[in-house]
Amino acid sequence: MSVSTSSATPPVAIVTGGSRGLGRALVAGLLDHGWSVVTDGRDPDRLADAAAELSTATGDLDRLVALAGDVEDERHLDDLVAAADRLGRLDLVVLNAGGLGPSPLPRLAELDPTALVELFAVNAVAPLRLVQRALPALRANRGTVVAVTSDAAAEAYEGWGAYGATKAALEHLARVLAAEEPEVTVHRIDPGDLRTDMHQAAFPGEDISDRPPPEVAVPGILRIVAERRPSGQRWAAQAEVPA
Ligand SMILES: NC(=O)c1ccc[n+]([C@@H]2O[C@H](COP(=O)([O-])OP(=O)(O)OC[C@H]3O[C@@H](n4cnc5c(N)ncnc54)[C@H](OP(=O)(O)O)[C@@H]3O)[C@@H](O)[C@H]2O)c1
Repeated sequence: MSVSTSSATPPVAIVTGGSRGLGRALVAGLLDHGWSVVTDGRDPDRLADAAAELSTATGDLDRLVALAGDVEDERHLDDLVAAADRLGRLDLVVLNAGGLGPSPLPRLAELDPTALVELFAVNAVAPLRLVQRALPALRANRGTVVAVTSDAAAEAYEGWGAYGATKAALEHLARVLAAEEPEVTVHRIDPGDLRTDMHQAAFPGEDISDRPPPEVAVPGILRIVAERRPSGQRWAAQAEVPA
């Protein structure tokens, strides 16, 4: 799959939460397809280890910038966008980093409202803050925003009320963004169930080895972005490229 570029300047993606799980797999996929990538994660050691492995696998240390930080920190968001500007032409922002909330998943009757507020901050408010900073470049470059969502945003699964509400909020922000920003393509992409730390936290103590690794969602996400599909739509990554 080739990278769609409108000039010779290298395309740059920001992928939040690239130190493990889906974000890390997506960073690897983007690097493989010629993108330069800026990514992050709060744990600096885990991020540094991931970046070292990804750079070694790619054989190119210059196309990956890994900045330790929290997406709730506005200065860190400024740093992500500035790093992308230094690397080349910002074409893609993937809103991937996020949280699950309390584990085990509480029923709404027992949900701590403070935890819900914190989850909205990381899953909906922080992504909007990042998009606001990236918009000037994304408009100029006719770039793409990918909001990583979940079926829990649409379905009423017991215990998933907090997480699902924050993902529903993220999805609605993405839909309105698509309506307001005709020069930017905005996708909502559900990666499907994946064998990650977040998924394990949703099913504590359970064997989740039957779930596929996060790499299975990557070809679908890359295809949706590369094909420059219509803005404002919702896609299921694993349905794009059946196993
Ligand atoms: N796994 C699934 O089955 C599944 C299904 C549907 C949707 N999703 C969505 O897919 C995305 C990735 O999920 P995942 O399962 O890969 O999660 P994960 O395994 O928990 O990984 C999350 C990544 O985001 C980073 N992160 C978390 N909070 C952050 C913050 N405040 N600031 C910066 N980085 C942060 C983590 O690093 P640090 O902890 O070091 O910060 C890590 O790199 C999420 O949006 C999730 O909702 C997952």
